[in-house]
Amino acid sequence: MLNIALPKGRLGDQVYELLASIGYDCKSIYEENRKLVFENQENGVRYLLVKPSDVAIYVEHHAADVGIVGKDILLESRPDVYELLDLKLGKCRMAVAACEDFAEDTDRPLRVATKFVNIAKDYYTGLNREIEIIKLNGSIELAPILGLSDVIVDIVESGNTIRENHLRVVEEFRQISARFIANKSSFEFKNDVIGEMVRKLSAAVAQKELAVSGGK
Ligand code: PRP
Repeated sequence: MLNIALPKGRLGDQVYELLASIGYDCKSIYEENRKLVFENQENGVRYLLVKPSDVAIYVEHHAADVGIVGKDILLESRPDVYELLDLKLGKCRMAVAACEDFAEDTDRPLRVATKFVNIAKDYYTGLNREIEIIKLNGSIELAPILGLSDVIVDIVESGNTIRENHLRVVEEFRQISARFIANKSSFEFKNDVIGEMVRKLSAAVAQKELAVSGGK
């Protein structure tokens, strides 16, 4: 069996549909219950439904052979796994945002609120800008509104959260999308199975991209 860590939620649903369309379906996953493990012995897949931010932990520690995770999480936690494919799903941007009237004071460190501490540090190190990090776990947009920080570093997808909280994007500095990752020893010992899955996924992703660009 190939153990696949699938992120719970909309991205996981999209990825499952993609995997099901290329021969890795597991119908019981649609059962409405609180189960977290679903398997289909016929095609050799076992899906583990995990919190999106935990996918890479399961894969790195070999509790799953492969998984699907956002590039934001890979950049932030730098797990020791192989990143095999960009699935071109869950596309968004990593951005700096601030209140509409924000004006930077370069005489003091910039106060940055974020869940992505390493990404923010890397970004500002690259700019040679001194910062003070305020680590939050969610609702990051509140921080500049309440004066807790000067800016935030966060994911922007539709832009609705930024707009509805009267913030503005200062800079978008990184494209983000879902990646297919593998445990390093699984990649060695289940190379045939994982290789076949990557080839099929890669073809399906290319076909989808073509359909989207053709439809424009
Ligand atoms: C994420 C992110 C932004 C929002 C961006 O939050 O932190 O707040 O989505 O999406 P949008 O541009 O489409 O509005 P999430 O929903 O994960 O909740 P959180 O506040 O717990 O981080």
